[in-house]
Amino acid sequence: MAKAFLTMDYFDFAGKTVLVRADLNSSVDEATGKVQDSERIKAHAKTIKELAKKKARVVVLAHQGRAGDKDFTHLDQHAELLSGHAKKKVKFVPDVIGPEAVKQIQKLKDGRVLLLDNVRLLAEETLELAPEEHAKSVFVRTLAPLAQVFVNDAYSVAHRPHCSVVGFAAALPSCAGRVMEEEIDGNEKAREQAGHPNVYILGGAKPDDCVKLLKAASAGGEVDKILVSGVIGELCLIAKGLDLGKSKLEVLEKNKWLKDLPAVKEAVERHGEKIEAPLDLAVSENGARKEILLSQLPTDKPVYDIGSKTALRFAEIIRGAKSVYVKGPLGKYEDPAFELGTKLVFEALAKSKAFSLVGGGHTLNAMEKFGVNKKKIGHISLAGGALLTYLTGASLPGVEALKKAAQQK
Ligand code: 3PG
Repeated sequence: MAKAFLTMDYFDFAGKTVLVRADLNSSVDEATGKVQDSERIKAHAKTIKELAKKKARVVVLAHQGRAGDKDFTHLDQHAELLSGHAKKKVKFVPDVIGPEAVKQIQKLKDGRVLLLDNVRLLAEETLELAPEEHAKSVFVRTLAPLAQVFVNDAYSVAHRPHCSVVGFAAALPSCAGRVMEEEIDGNEKAREQAGHPNVYILGGAKPDDCVKLLKAASAGGEVDKILVSGVIGELCLIAKGLDLGKSKLEVLEKNKWLKDLPAVKEAVERHGEKIEAPLDLAVSENGARKEILLSQLPTDKPVYDIGSKTALRFAEIIRGAKSVYVKGPLGKYEDPAFELGTKLVFEALAKSKAFSLVGGGHTLNAMEKFGVNKKKIGHISLAGGALLTYLTGASLPGVEALKKAAQQK
């Protein structure tokens, strides 16, 4: 079937300056500030290598973290990691739209690659606007005239109507990169193959994308069960009236995660039977794992995992499912003391006959850590939030902008 967007096969890239939006957003070690290598970096390196081989002058745009967060960093380390995977020098430019970035782009030679600094250093980047509005930004008006083609390879951030995700598609001839193309095709196929009962396993640190799914669950009949852990699990427990403790509330407040509480409450009230919240939790007592029951709440200790009772319950639900979607690890899986929840759930997933779809940077890293056989997984997506948005039936602004660009070619 013909695609609704252009792909990289449509353009002759030789001698052209090509802006490539990649999603290099990866885990950053809190103690050392070291950016962890990731499947995303590896995948985008392939797109970049192909463009360089076709003699394009490649300028990569990407983000890392969110302003104010600990993992909000410059992209110098990403350039090193990209270079390693592409087996080709990716030069880091510590600038996005200033004179240094412009100069480096202007003197770029055919087949060479630049990575500009974190696009989220620009306030314009994270405004949520239509492509045509973003096209009027200083960001787009500075870089678009220096390029001839825009390649959007960043499916995993396509759910954000951000400047670098949608704005350039309204200003330049545009197409999907290889990662974007594979993700769109793969996720469409996955949705077709999925059966009921379905189970969504949500975890990780970003509750906002999970809330969209909870809302969709309360609105329609597509979602059968949602197993919650991580921050979204904590919000569900609060929505059920539990007191998690003063220090936990402070963390939720500080990260602006409590703003999602009313929506979570509504979902729990309307469709509580679909939502399986943790039955017990694992807290850190001087770094050691200690499991507590909900009746032992509140706690002043940090919660780093679901408890074993919850993990066994989740595993049992997975055994009865026809399709399973996983987004976000269930706890602080990097720490052996708190890996149990994520490990048991992945083991259950590997044994299950259900069609499975696994997505999200941290989720894939966890899968790698626990040696899950990738052949047992129906589809592996590099996207977390974008995938969830897609599964709720909503459109992705980044993909829509590419479709629009294709109509205007
Ligand atoms: C992700 O890691 O899900 C994407 O890079 C999007 O990041 P964001 O949730 O900070 O927009």
